[in-house]
Amino acid sequence: MKIAIGNDHAAPELKLACAKYLEEQGFEVMDMGVAAGEKCDYPDAARRVCKMVLSGMADLGILICGTGIGMSMAANKFKGIRAACCSDTFSARLTREHNNANVLCFGARVVGEGTALDLCDVFVKTPYSGEERHEKRIAKITAIENE
Ligand code: RB5
Repeated sequence: MKIAIGNDHAAPELKLACAKYLEEQGFEVMDMGVAAGEKCDYPDAARRVCKMVLSGMADLGILICGTGIGMSMAANKFKGIRAACCSDTFSARLTREHNNANVLCFGARVVGEGTALDLCDVFVKTPYSGEERHEKRIAKITAIENE
């Protein structure tokens, strides 16, 4: 499975820690973010990661900024992206199982490294349930996108 990861200037170190962890877990990680010392407006990183997911070059995306909120706002503007800003693993698991989220966002100023790695782990390893009730609700999200 391929994961595109991106960050702004609030999260270069945490991005590297997450990328390293995911690679150790056997995932292919594509780093679309910035390095320490570089400035980046979060919508630009969100765009790069979302384009990778929407094109199929990545299976899932991970976006890290200061809070995770700006990244999730920007990511959710892309049709077909369902981005979830999470700071607990219960939400990270359920947003895969129920919402078929394809982008995880979190904040480097909100969660520590241990929680960040757990969020990544749960998000990329949890499959979408595909249950009919969830399919119906996700179809309604898509309908809203198309209004
Ligand atoms: C950047 O300082 C900060 O605004 C950004 O990382 C993020 O928290 C926005 O939502």
